[in-house]
Amino acid sequence: MQNNIRVLCIGDIVGLLGCYMFKKHVAELKRKHKIDAVIVNGENSHSQGRGITPRIANFLKANGADVITTGNHIWARREIQSYIIENKDLLRPYNFPSGCPGVGVTTFNCNGVTVGVLNLQGRIFMKEFVDCPFRAAQTALSFLKSKTNIIFVDFHAEATSEKMGLAYFLDGQISALFGTHTHVQTADERVLPDGTAFISDLGMTGSLNSMIGMKREIVLKNFLTQMPVKFEVDNNPPAVMSGIIVDVDINTGKANNIERVRIVDNDVNLGESLD
Ligand SMILES: [Fe+2]
Ligand SMILES: [Fe+2]
Repeated sequence: MQNNIRVLCIGDIVGLLGCYMFKKHVAELKRKHKIDAVIVNGENSHSQGRGITPRIANFLKANGADVITTGNHIWARREIQSYIIENKDLLRPYNFPSGCPGVGVTTFNCNGVTVGVLNLQGRIFMKEFVDCPFRAAQTALSFLKSKTNIIFVDFHAEATSEKMGLAYFLDGQISALFGTHTHVQTADERVLPDGTAFISDLGMTGSLNSMIGMKREIVLKNFLTQMPVKFEVDNNPPAVMSGIIVDVDINTGKANNIERVRIVDNDVNLGESLD
């Protein structure tokens, strides 16, 4: 039996280009790097850049995702509410108010090994009133640890300090913590002193020369005039797909290695609409 599992984590899929970039490259990455499992953040995967629909969630799973994490845009599409109740492989942040649909923590089987995934949202510079992510993580881990010591955390947050703080707080208790939400890949990936792999932000999967996935002209107009604008997803090439590959020792649950992944592709065909 193998002693390691290798998990690919992909950052926020934005719009149709992000979906088809994921489809085009994940299968090949899995083959090339002998990936055992894939976790992807899908909160911006709708064609309009906010939210996710049942059809898109099924598309991401059919193309290799084992678990889909999300964040502040999870409720942007109404139809996801019933889907998330029935599909425990789509997570919303665990520290959302109690009573909202879905779960923020799940486990799945990876080659006979149980892997846990926990999704949390930050509070610094974010307008949602979520519970303390540090205490929420402690609560979630108190039962997750009885099932497995291989645990991945997607911390959907704005501030680097909050992401780093939670990673140090959980160092040695989880296999990896990666940040999402800011859509720009950071170069601070490392295994922390007690064995938790960490990166402040995975980066995004969408149009490279966009403004974090949206058409840059429209965002610029807003900066220059402060007039209200309607953001539009940028589907122009080249596309970028960003993430990490983490190796975890299945006996200890600690990470041996973390590597950044960033693929740029000028030639992604947009298939049929997934709306
Ligand atoms: Fe996002
Ligand atoms: Fe977000």
